[in-house]
Amino acid sequence: MSSVREHYDNHLGPVYAWMVGGETSALARGDAEIGALDVAPRGGGIAVDLGAGFGMHAIALAERGFDVVAVDACSVLLDRLERLGQGRRIRIVRDDMQSFVDHLPGAPELVMCLGDTLTHLPDDSDVEALIEEIAGVMEPGGRFIATFRDYSQRLDGTRRFIPVRSDMDRNMTCFLEYSESHVLVHDILSERRGAEWATRVGAYRKLRLAPARFRSMLIARGFSVEQSSEPAGMVRFSSRLDHPGNPE
Ligand SMILES: C[S@@+](CC[C@H](N)C(=O)[O-])C[C@H]1O[C@@H](n2cnc3c(N)ncnc32)[C@H](O)[C@@H]1O
Repeated sequence: MSSVREHYDNHLGPVYAWMVGGETSALARGDAEIGALDVAPRGGGIAVDLGAGFGMHAIALAERGFDVVAVDACSVLLDRLERLGQGRRIRIVRDDMQSFVDHLPGAPELVMCLGDTLTHLPDDSDVEALIEEIAGVMEPGGRFIATFRDYSQRLDGTRRFIPVRSDMDRNMTCFLEYSESHVLVHDILSERRGAEWATRVGAYRKLRLAPARFRSMLIARGFSVEQSSEPAGMVRFSSRLDHPGNPE
C-alpha cells in the first residue's frame, strides 16, 4: 500500500485528467458545478480549494472573481493547473491540505473540498481538526462546501469492482477491500504499449467517513448545513458559518 501522496505522484497523477473524462470536459463540468453553487465574491474574495488537483474547480472560481488558493500535494497535477490557470488569480500551493492556513493571504469567505478528497484524510479526527481550522479562519457567514463518496455501506462480491473509464488505449478499474474504518482502493490501470498491454496496480486507503458523522462535526463547529445526494454514491454538504467562535 502507498501513501496518498505516493499514489497520486506515481500512479494516478499522470492519468487523472484522462480518468475524469479529459481536460476539456472536466473543466466544463467543474465550471457547471461551480455555476450551480451560486457562489460569488461578497466579502474579502478569498476562496480556498483543498485538494485542487489540476484545477477543474479552482479555475472556475477564479473566473468568477475569487482570489483562489489552490492546495494539493501532487506536483504532477499542480503543474497542469499552473499551465491551465495561467493569467488567473490562483495561488498554487504544494502542501498537505491540513496545513492550508499557513498559506492564506487573509480570511477566506469560501472553502471547497470537492471530488472525494476528504476521504483521503487518515482519520475522522483529521476531518474534525480540518473543520475546526476552517471555522477558525473563515469570514463570519462564509461557506464550506464539500463532496465525498459515502463508503459507509459495504459493497459485496463483484460489486466491489468499479469500472472507472476505458478507451482503445487504456482501462482503469478499482477494486475495494473494506476494513472497519477504511476502504483499501486498488487501482488497476492497463495501458496499450504497441501490440501489448501493460498493467500496473497500486493501492491506497480511503476513510469510510459517515455522512451523519460529518454533518454533526460541522454543526458542532457553528455551521448550518444543507446535505444532498449526488450520483455514484457522492454526498454534497453546503454549509455556512453562522455561529463563528460559538460552537454548539
Ligand atoms: C479525488 S482527487 C479530487 C481532485 C479535485 N478536487 C476534483 O474534484 O477533481 C483528490 C485530490 O486531493 C489531493 N490530496 C489528497 N490528499 C491530500 C492532502 N492530504 N493534502 C493535499 N492534497 C491532497 C490529491 O493529490 C488529488 O489531487
